Amino acid sequence: MTTTLDSYCVTGNPVAHSRSPWIHARFAELTGQPVQYDRALVPLDGFADFVRDFAAQGGKGCNVTVPFKLQAAELATSASERVRLAGAANTLVFSDSGIHADNTDGLGIVADITRNAGVTITGRDVLLLGAGGAASGALGSLLEQKPRRLVVTNRTHAKAQALVEQHASIAALHKVELIALERQALEADLTQCFDIVINATASSLAGADVPAPASVLHARSLAYDMMYGPAAQAFLDWASSHGALARDGLGMLVEQAAESFALWRGVRPPSAQVLAELREVLKTESAH
Ligand code: ATR
Repeated sequence: MTTTLDSYCVTGNPVAHSRSPWIHARFAELTGQPVQYDRALVPLDGFADFVRDFAAQGGKGCNVTVPFKLQAAELATSASERVRLAGAANTLVFSDSGIHADNTDGLGIVADITRNAGVTITGRDVLLLGAGGAASGALGSLLEQKPRRLVVTNRTHAKAQALVEQHASIAALHKVELIALERQALEADLTQCFDIVINATASSLAGADVPAPASVLHARSLAYDMMYGPAAQAFLDWASSHGALARDGLGMLVEQAAESFALWRGVRPPSAQVLAELREVLKTESAH
């Protein structure tokens, strides 16, 4: 007897580097779900057409990566509160009633920090470096954890201010002190240190210095880079050299995928196991 597989994919440009097909294939195997998950390189001007065609051909949903997350949010017929806050979607769910958009990036980083790294966000002081797509995708979910204080700092200060304004009501709802601070203000006040420092900037890709003074770290801080592999290395080395616990974003990648899988299939995959397996795969690859 042959089982018909439900079809999903990750869409992006570029997308060849994406680990999502590997992750979802393992989720499908481990949960016994009849899922096929492919990689779709979509032309820069062809995202909406691709999504409509894929849905018309029986596709059940897709993940969306750079540069289509904003378009995904606009194209959907319904969207979660997380999408509304971030203005971006990384997960589309197709059904008879239309295309539903969600954003699982923030849930992914929260799951990785709290469950996999075992670090509590609630009641703690958090510093978010950056105010682009990666930062805005995570901020709503971080605030839902009710940190005591969340400070956003960014090279372009106006963008940090805009991000904070956009999240003012959810911060008030959860009684979080949410502010934007200029880097100079962080440098001037050496007493400002944070339990969790999250790098959501592209500074290491640009080969630039870590965009924060080392005084933001204390000996038990968690320093988290949303990237993984060589792109995260400079930040992780900086954090370790100042005595903080350094963690890359591989777990965020696996956990956001797990949240998407759960939305599509109603089944939670064993994400910690798949994260451990993926780390081994990357280690083997980098040794060759
Ligand atoms: P992403 O979707 O990955 O977040 P993005 O929206 O382009 O990409 O945002 C990139 C982030 O990295 C921004 O916060 C950016 O700062 P600006 O808003 O000032 O552009 C930050 N960034 C990029 N290069 C940087 C550098 N060399 N130093 C510090 N911050 C940098």
